[in-house]
Amino acid sequence: MDRYCVFGNPIAHSKSPEIHAAFAAQTGQELTYEKRLAPVDGFAAAVQAFIAEGGLGANVTVPFKLEAVKLAQALTIRARAAGAVNTLHFTEDGIVGDNTDGAGLVADIVNNAGVPITGKRVLLLGAGGAARGVVLPILEHRPAQLVIANRTVATAEALVEQFAALGGEGVVSACGYGEIEGAFDIVINATSASLSAELPPVSASVFVPGSLAFDMMYGASPTVFLQFAGQHGARLRDGLGMLVEQAAEAFSLWRGVQPATADVLQSLRAKL
Ligand code: ATR
Repeated sequence: MDRYCVFGNPIAHSKSPEIHAAFAAQTGQELTYEKRLAPVDGFAAAVQAFIAEGGLGANVTVPFKLEAVKLAQALTIRARAAGAVNTLHFTEDGIVGDNTDGAGLVADIVNNAGVPITGKRVLLLGAGGAARGVVLPILEHRPAQLVIANRTVATAEALVEQFAALGGEGVVSACGYGEIEGAFDIVINATSASLSAELPPVSASVFVPGSLAFDMMYGASPTVFLQFAGQHGARLRDGLGMLVEQAAEAFSLWRGVQPATADVLQSLRAKL
């Protein structure tokens, strides 16, 4: 049986085995996908052990996404741009590192929420690892504007500099929360503020009726950011669809088959 897994620490909470099992059943692919707890100082050894056991690919989650960049012998353009790897493919040519998080976000917004990014004004809140991973996939859809707002403005400016050369020139700009101007079609919370039930200090005026507010976090109840956005007329979307879509991208990379995601998302949602 072809073997895949997800490495993380902690890992018990991961929904990836359930998602990949559903994709495998749906597409008739014979494979196993397990959770693997790697020691914080033992990620590379855990991956090598899995390869030695015949593993064909793996997902990588917190806290190993940066270490996976170093471990990979080749990186896809989007993994290089993200500076992080969430998907490893063990090939005859060695370990290939990819990043499907941004493609997952974009697929969820465009296909599942039905909101095109092309020609739209997009506001990205945050400039850490999660934000960096989605900039290139967003730019590939040619938004009219991508504003990156961050508490530490210099970090957002560094992202703008990085992505100006990758199609973002004149489209992508950086600012602090107090300097955001106008309203946006799509507002994405890529800060880690939701983890501690905090709200990034964004003005309600960024939302207009019909704006899409997206939070990369998910849970049984809406994050404080989604509650705030909802009070100001935005449509709301949490990160569960992005989770399923990034998995679908990884599955398709490994297996060459694109799984359907709607039913899997619905069944995960019912269990939240
Ligand atoms: P991740 O990998 O989740 O992106 P990270 O790289 O540590 O984590 O980045 C965290 C992001 O959330 C940063 O943009 C951070 O802002 P700063 O760069 O100014 O620190 C942002 N962040 C965290 N808590 C926040 C809060 N309470 N309000 C606003 N932004 C917050």
